[in-house]
Amino acid sequence: MKIVKKVDDVRKEVKKARKEGKTIGFVPTMGALHNGHLSLIKASISECAFTVVSIFVNPIQFNDPADYKKYPRDNERDINLLKKEDVDLLFIPETEEMYKERAETYVEVRGLSDVLEGKFRPGHFKGVCTVVCKLFNIVQPDKAYFGWKDAQQLIVIRKMVKDLNIPVEIVGCPTIRENDGLAASSRNVFIKEDDREKALSLYNSLKKIEDMVLKEGIKDTSILLEEGKSIIAKYTDVELQYLEIVDFENLSPVRKIESKVLVLGAIKLPYVRLIDNIIINV
Ligand code: PAF
Repeated sequence: MKIVKKVDDVRKEVKKARKEGKTIGFVPTMGALHNGHLSLIKASISECAFTVVSIFVNPIQFNDPADYKKYPRDNERDINLLKKEDVDLLFIPETEEMYKERAETYVEVRGLSDVLEGKFRPGHFKGVCTVVCKLFNIVQPDKAYFGWKDAQQLIVIRKMVKDLNIPVEIVGCPTIRENDGLAASSRNVFIKEDDREKALSLYNSLKKIEDMVLKEGIKDTSILLEEGKSIIAKYTDVELQYLEIVDFENLSPVRKIESKVLVLGAIKLPYVRLIDNIIINV
């Protein structure tokens, strides 16, 4: 695995691989790698002859500076993990390399970015789209891999790619869960052992909604959401930020489930914010 820090070096390596007729797969990350990331990397390696991974904690997607500061970082551990996979190129730029002079250009997908996560993290998806667009321009991959764990991010990026005619295929990979069902996330390292049950309340609520739809045939989303919210409400120090059932394509709220929907939520424990979702296909 070759490790580079400069945009020009990424371009050089990718150009070489392309000359050899290789397809380029790309997995953008912010590091603190977990099994979710590894599943994306494995998918890229199985489908593409040359896999590029990036590690960059993107400052402009954090609406809260304290969250940016405490975001977990461990490049040495990440590099060791990546060496065990068959990654061809790792790009770890410094912030100055990505945002050289004062950047004045941003990429924003309106509408889809303003709901759900967007309401609680203003500017977040603008930061995500800008950095992902830059990374796509730097790496110029054939395929890029994103997890369904961040469902709204995946949908927003697909829309950006479509609207801007970016020649890359966005591949969505299933959410990877820990043994008890908690969705793999870099932020899970913050969860105290005693708070595990609280952290799992969101997943338990999503599972309950799924059971009510698939086993009991309940399709009215107001009934489903009331039941789902009651599971989280049992924990006094867990703040439910949102729990919604939305259309799979356009993220608009659904009253009665008649097609594929996303059930998404976010909770806040006193020291960590967690998101999760499930897809229900009736
Ligand atoms: O999902 C993430 O880790 C980040 O939002 C991404 C896509 C790497 C952009 O910084």
